[in-house]
Amino acid sequence: MKGIILAGGAGTRLRPLTMVSSKQLLPVYDQPMVYYPLQTLLKAGIKDVLIIVAPDRAGDFLRVLGSGKEWGAKFTYEIQDKPEGLAQAYLIGRSFIGDANVTMILGDNIFLGQDDQIHEAITTFRRGGRIFATEVPDPERFGVVEFDASRRVVSIDEKPKRPKSNFAIVGLYIFDSRVVEIAQQLKLSARGGLEITDVHKAYLSQGELDVRMYSGEWLDTGTFDTLLAAGNLVAEWKKKRG
Ligand code: G1P
Repeated sequence: MKGIILAGGAGTRLRPLTMVSSKQLLPVYDQPMVYYPLQTLLKAGIKDVLIIVAPDRAGDFLRVLGSGKEWGAKFTYEIQDKPEGLAQAYLIGRSFIGDANVTMILGDNIFLGQDDQIHEAITTFRRGGRIFATEVPDPERFGVVEFDASRRVVSIDEKPKRPKSNFAIVGLYIFDSRVVEIAQQLKLSARGGLEITDVHKAYLSQGELDVRMYSGEWLDTGTFDTLLAAGNLVAEWKKKRG
């Protein structure tokens, strides 16, 4: 299993903070944001990690994260010239992925607690796609999955105006190497990107998408309020649990 951290993008929603630093290097309590998703991958036993960054921020990431040696891992870097959707990461990472399975985590997603759910999902993965959902109060901000009474997936929608459930798809995706071919066949969405939800749908249509529940704390830190909430939550968490 290889890992990808997608930490590209212009961070426009967090300007002017992101005029000095990449979004994923902004502080979340006592660490740069990207440390959290990185630790999530490392705790799940992933040692070979591709970090995808924006062209003007590559030097900052190298300075902060280095070769990976200090983390007991190996880091590789690739540039995302233009942010054109999450699924673009699989095209950028094509040669890194090769014929391996790959877990991608978003550089602005923070997972706290329930490490075992992620660890188990990654270490037992063999084939197809495996993603996580979690209940949120504001599903319209995310990819949303709808289940039937027997917990089978009925639909998946990206940022629906009228969400069919409160289950958001979190930014951690486990796929086999076929994800590269799937990404190659995707068409640009109305918002101009290759949508990760279209990758989910491709696996779903082949009956190969496993959607699990994540019951820890999950935060997407892409706005001022969620960035602040993440800092507060991490501070509280660390003081309580060390
Ligand atoms: C992306 C995905 C969405 C997912 C979310 C998790 O949204 O498109 O499906 O629920 O990440 O953070 P975006 O970061 O593009 O708003």
